[in-house]
Amino acid sequence: MNDLQQLDADGTLRHLLTLRGLDRSMIDALLDKAETYLRPTDALPARDGILNGRTVANLFFEPSTRTRASFELAAKRMSADVLNLDVNMSSRIKGESVLDTIYTLQAMRSDIFVVRDASEGIPDLIARHVEPHVSVLNAGEAAISHPTQGLLDLLTIRRHKGAFDDLVITVVGDIGHSRVARSLADGLAITGVGELRLTAPPGLTPDEADYPGAVIVDDIDDAIRGADVVMALRIQRERIREKSSLMTSHEYLNRYGLTDERLELADPDAIVMHPGPMNRDVEIASSVADGPRSVIEEQVANGLAVRMAVLAAVVDGKVAS
Ligand code: NCD
Repeated sequence: MNDLQQLDADGTLRHLLTLRGLDRSMIDALLDKAETYLRPTDALPARDGILNGRTVANLFFEPSTRTRASFELAAKRMSADVLNLDVNMSSRIKGESVLDTIYTLQAMRSDIFVVRDASEGIPDLIARHVEPHVSVLNAGEAAISHPTQGLLDLLTIRRHKGAFDDLVITVVGDIGHSRVARSLADGLAITGVGELRLTAPPGLTPDEADYPGAVIVDDIDDAIRGADVVMALRIQRERIREKSSLMTSHEYLNRYGLTDERLELADPDAIVMHPGPMNRDVEIASSVADGPRSVIEEQVANGLAVRMAVLAAVVDGKVAS
């Protein structure tokens, strides 16, 4: 499915598979809508019955805490019926194809599929085969894309820094395996950014072709110097075959981790982000994660609001089956 097929003929959002191909006004509208779910106190978003009568099916074929919980809560806050498929109990491990699982749940009148899978192309495949009223939301696709994470990261940055144009944003860690970094870069390519710097340990460096416009910086200190935003990423051991090459936690933190000393190199008003789950004192010092510049918990809260905004966008104006 090419990017534009995420949109209905009238330009509204049908599926959210990737941020690539969306235009600036769509991104802004989703972030603005998410803001409405954070007002007035940044406390719990208000209930919104917009999904009343719809069924949201969460299909997570990979582990998840934040993304799954926030999609579930978002759907419930908007009065949907929510189905969480327990993957260990599902027929997929008995060999049922993912499409047969989808057809089964579609026959039960599921309207929105939220899908996380370790294989590339699964959200796209599902989107090509569902009925016209059904939407597919990518909740993490291999190391390729994680669009709602990208949106929540953009929202978090925007709430602290305003415009993106003059910002230096640095991502530190296992970028090579990260769909989070990919979707952030996809989003920033649309909004514009002063400079996007990527720095990773040897062997975990990104493929430059996946990051048009970003600067790959070898030295972590150089990458952090003067940054307005520093995002740390977990080493994604589940995607690394040769585990014996991984260094100890202590060595990793000293050489490539986000420590208090390194953070001193950043802009004095820099914010610290991490998508979670964190490995404390590996890619990020515990004191940094809990420190005054950390906005990690805000990312989680913003994630709920973003997922509400995306759910609202895909049902907006569409008639339930
Ligand atoms: C990330 C993911 O699953 O890609 N987590 C998340 O969704 N917040 C990052 C990770 O697993 O390290």
